[in-house]
Amino acid sequence: MNNSGAIGLFDSGVGGLTVSRVVNRLLPAEAIIYYGDTAHVPYGQRSAEELLGFADKIVSFLAGQEVKYIIFACNTNSALSLPVLSSRYPLPMIGLIKPGVAEALQTTRNGKIGVIATEATVRSGAYEKEIKIHDKSIEVFSRAAPLLVPLVEAGETDTPAVARAVRQYLSPLGQAGIDTLILGCTHYPFLAGLISEEMGPDVRLIDPAVSTVRGAAKEISRLGLLASGEASPVHRFYVSGEPHTFREQAQRFLGRDVGRVIRADL
Ligand code: DGL
Repeated sequence: MNNSGAIGLFDSGVGGLTVSRVVNRLLPAEAIIYYGDTAHVPYGQRSAEELLGFADKIVSFLAGQEVKYIIFACNTNSALSLPVLSSRYPLPMIGLIKPGVAEALQTTRNGKIGVIATEATVRSGAYEKEIKIHDKSIEVFSRAAPLLVPLVEAGETDTPAVARAVRQYLSPLGQAGIDTLILGCTHYPFLAGLISEEMGPDVRLIDPAVSTVRGAAKEISRLGLLASGEASPVHRFYVSGEPHTFREQAQRFLGRDVGRVIRADL
C-alpha cells in the first residue's frame, strides 16, 4: 500500500456517487476507483448472506486494483458486511453508520432521531444499536423506504411518483416529532430537496457521506497515505451491469461526464 493508490468506493449502483462527490470535494488530489454493482441493484431486499457474498467479491476486486483505502459507499453493506470484511482484509476501511450517528447525536436537540434506509439496513438495527451505544435516552424512529432506490436508479428524482413515495414514507416520522433525520441510504441525498420540503425547516437532514469522508481523510493522513502532487487524479468506474446506462445516470447526477465505464463481472 502506498500513497499513489486510489481510494476504492462501492455501492449497488449510482447511490455511492453521493459519497464519491464528497471525496472529490474534500480530497481533490485523490484518485477514485468506483464499483457499482448494477447487475444486483437494489440491495435493500437481499439477505445478509447474499450481501456479504457480493461485498466480499467487490472488496477483493478493489484490493486487486491496489486501492489504499476502501469506503463502503453503501449503508446496507456498512451495516451488514463491513463488520465481517474489516477483519478479513488487511486494508483500512470505513462505513457510513458510525460517522452518520456521531453527527446526528451532535445535531439533535430534542432527542428524537429518524432514520430512513433500505429494508435490510432497518432490519439489521445497525443505526439504532449505534445510537443506543452512545445515548440510551435517544428515541429512534426507523423507516424502510424500498421504492426510493429503484426510482433514483431510473433517474426519477423530481417526478410525482417519487414525491408521493417520499411523503408516504416520511409522514409518520414527521408526526413522531423528530428534529434530525439520517439519510441512511446513499441514494437518498439525490432526493434531499424533496425530503427537506416534506419534513419542513425544523428537521435537520444528516447525509453521513460528509462525516464519513472526513473520517476517512483523517485515517488516510494518519497512515501517511494522502496523495501528493498537484496532477488531476484519474478516476475509474466499473459496473457489473450495463456501462452505458451507468455513465448516463452518473452524468445526470454529477453534472459531468465520468468518462469510460468498464464492465467487470465478478
Ligand atoms: N445505496 C445503498 C445503501 O446505501 C444500497 C441501496 C439498494 O441497493 O437498495 O444502502
